[in-house]
Amino acid sequence: MQRRSQVRRIIAVGGGKGGIGKTLVSVNLAVALAQRNQKVVIVDADLGGANVHTCLGIAQPQTTLTDYVERRIARLEDVCVPTSIPNLSLIGGALDALDVANLKFQQKQKLLRNLQTLDADTVVLDLGAGTSFNVLDFFLVAHHGLLVLLPEPTSIENAYRFIKSAFFRRLQDLQTSMGIEDLIETAMSTREGAVRTPLEFVARAKAIDAEAGARLERELEQFRVRLVVNQARGPGDADVGHAVVSAWRKFFGLNLDYLGAISYDDAAWRAVRKRRPLLVEGPESIAAAALRKIADNLLALDARSASRTP
Ligand SMILES: Nc1ncnc2c1ncn2[C@@H]1O[C@H](COP(=O)(O)OP(=O)(O)O)[C@@H](O)[C@H]1O
Ligand SMILES: [Mg+2]
Repeated sequence: MQRRSQVRRIIAVGGGKGGIGKTLVSVNLAVALAQRNQKVVIVDADLGGANVHTCLGIAQPQTTLTDYVERRIARLEDVCVPTSIPNLSLIGGALDALDVANLKFQQKQKLLRNLQTLDADTVVLDLGAGTSFNVLDFFLVAHHGLLVLLPEPTSIENAYRFIKSAFFRRLQDLQTSMGIEDLIETAMSTREGAVRTPLEFVARAKAIDAEAGARLERELEQFRVRLVVNQARGPGDADVGHAVVSAWRKFFGLNLDYLGAISYDDAAWRAVRKRRPLLVEGPESIAAAALRKIADNLLALDARSASRTP
């Protein structure tokens, strides 16, 4: 049997909270990449509140992830519906939120595996809010885990909690294969309580077991997250992105690639009200230009890493 091709790039758009622009970023990033002649599938993975179809101006698809998860449709590609944007198709989110939000482990593993074999250059996953395992596992399956935050202390706190949860979730996957369950458990609990940062965790793990600790340190080094600041209201807000990158690196040991800031722009919410992607409804707007730039920065990151691999 012929081996199925792999999707070149999976981008997951997450953040700790609702209403911060995850769907705005997902939809317009998908449109920007489709406009650059990529074959793109956007997946509405907000299992409790699917609304990508609305932002794309199409009715709730007749077939959705629910049909796939509940095995009424065997192949994930058969859930894809075309959109009005050339090169862009949609896998609609769950109709009956409760069923799919409680996705069982095996169902989720199958879905995560099959996302990687979709016939597309790029798959964009629009995630729901919160830090449940369902959300984190979609974030972790992506080549580019993209974190959206607003330039406000509360949003930055939520975003950190989200990334920290994602990193520790990744460790859970690793611990069995590395045989270091005990080490992780010991390093996670300190006399003062739970370990507070990935950096602190790695330092403790190294003190307990130098070799395994060094592997965990490499894991943390390789755990890269892309950052987008949304609803910037002044030039200082774009700097928030740079400040977060250096603070998180220094205090938490986290590596972020800053992709850019999107201004607060009336064109953005106007487009949503018209049920059209911002890149189509207001292509000349400042926010649309920022979104296109973010798409280009992301492609540039991939080009750079491709040139590093022999
Ligand atoms: N840069 C922006 N400028 C103006 N309004 C925005 C911007 N980003 C998001 N919004 C508004 O916030 C609302 C919520 O955004 P959405 O993408 O649905 O968030 P999430 O998916 O994180 O819940 C949008 O409907 C839009 O009206
Ligand atoms: Mg959303």
